[in-house]
Amino acid sequence: MSSSFGPGGYAPRADRWAPFTELVSGLAPGALAVVDARVAHLHPALISGLQARKPVATLLLPAGERTKSLRALGKILAVSGKLGRHGTLVAVGGGTVGDLCTVAAHLIKRGVCLIQVPTTVVAAVDSSVGGKGAINLAAGGRELKNAAGVFHYAREAWLCSELFETLEARQRREGAIEAWKMVACLDAALWRQYRRRRPGLVPLIQGARRLKDGVCRRDPYERVGSRRVLNFGHTFGHVLESLSHFRVSHGDAVGLGMLCALDVGRALGVTSPSLAAEVEAGLREGPGILERGSLAKVLRRASPGDIAELLASDKKAGPAGELRMVLLGALGRAEVRHVPARMWRARLTAWRAGTLP
Ligand SMILES: NC(=O)c1ccc[n+]([C@@H]2O[C@H](COP(=O)([O-])OP(=O)(O)OC[C@H]3O[C@@H](n4cnc5c(N)ncnc54)[C@H](O)[C@@H]3O)[C@@H](O)[C@H]2O)c1
Ligand SMILES: [Zn+2]
Repeated sequence: MSSSFGPGGYAPRADRWAPFTELVSGLAPGALAVVDARVAHLHPALISGLQARKPVATLLLPAGERTKSLRALGKILAVSGKLGRHGTLVAVGGGTVGDLCTVAAHLIKRGVCLIQVPTTVVAAVDSSVGGKGAINLAAGGRELKNAAGVFHYAREAWLCSELFETLEARQRREGAIEAWKMVACLDAALWRQYRRRRPGLVPLIQGARRLKDGVCRRDPYERVGSRRVLNFGHTFGHVLESLSHFRVSHGDAVGLGMLCALDVGRALGVTSPSLAAEVEAGLREGPGILERGSLAKVLRRASPGDIAELLASDKKAGPAGELRMVLLGALGRAEVRHVPARMWRARLTAWRAGTLP
């Protein structure tokens, strides 16, 4: 399917599961490569392989939110001059490099082809699917996350299993939590399959990419809001990330945020008690979410007012403090509901005690 949006327009997903050497051997000379510096250090053959294809440049960037910046974008644009109109930008790294390169690919020559090589599980299951990229902006002394962004779909994604071997357990867990989230919200049969036998990394990534792509295909430019189901666990997840000063990682915060969403869903009669118990057990035994004690530890640091303020600043709260939350109606079926503020406030005492409300 071609698209009127140029090289970054939505097209059916092309995933290649093969070693990085295979990507390199088919790469036309004159591409531009941006590589996570840590990945380059851990996998030195990757850089020599790229260099052999005579790229216009190979740029190494450190990962982390500071790199999703205008400054780093400027560095890529500065070396992109020699990239032809039909050139290719290759992004090798986690969500940092992927998000930044998505923006760069959209701007270079008004849009060039992007090849994503996700090297973290988060990037493989989430950020490299769905066409979104963004950078952070500093305004009024605050760092605004994903403040400027684009839709620019990768033409191909290369999933090179050997690159995942250097990931730590904590990094794998983060991505696995997002993957299990998608399964809980979108595919009951796959959930049951995962519960019978925990999937290995490759099928876990494949399943999540297929599910996320299915959602994005129905709403490639986020015009009708059907992607919101992917935010299951994110309403309280973002609050927990902020309250912990980002010591609790995004994935772990989303894991705990899903418990909050199950509790609220139960209180509203949307999520049955047996469904909530099954999903909580699955998340604990599957990807290994943190215990409720961790939820208690983070929430004890904050007043209800602090929490309400964070919810409001995340644009998920309405004028009367009511929340737009993704709740689970059944396995594989998530729905967006308006939740009055009193519903989460009434659960706070139990959450702070580390018990089931
Ligand atoms: N565009 C989207 O739809 C979307 C979705 C989810 C997340 N994101 C974004 O993704 C970013 C987070 O992505 P991330 O979690 O991949 O973080 P990241 O890219 O910052 O990488 C995390 C750490 O892993 C290291 N790393 C990367 N690959 C490695 C490997 N193979 N072996 C060892 N270490 C490796 C990095 O150097 C870094 O230290 C956030 O900025 C988030 O906003 C975007
Ligand atoms: Zn997330």
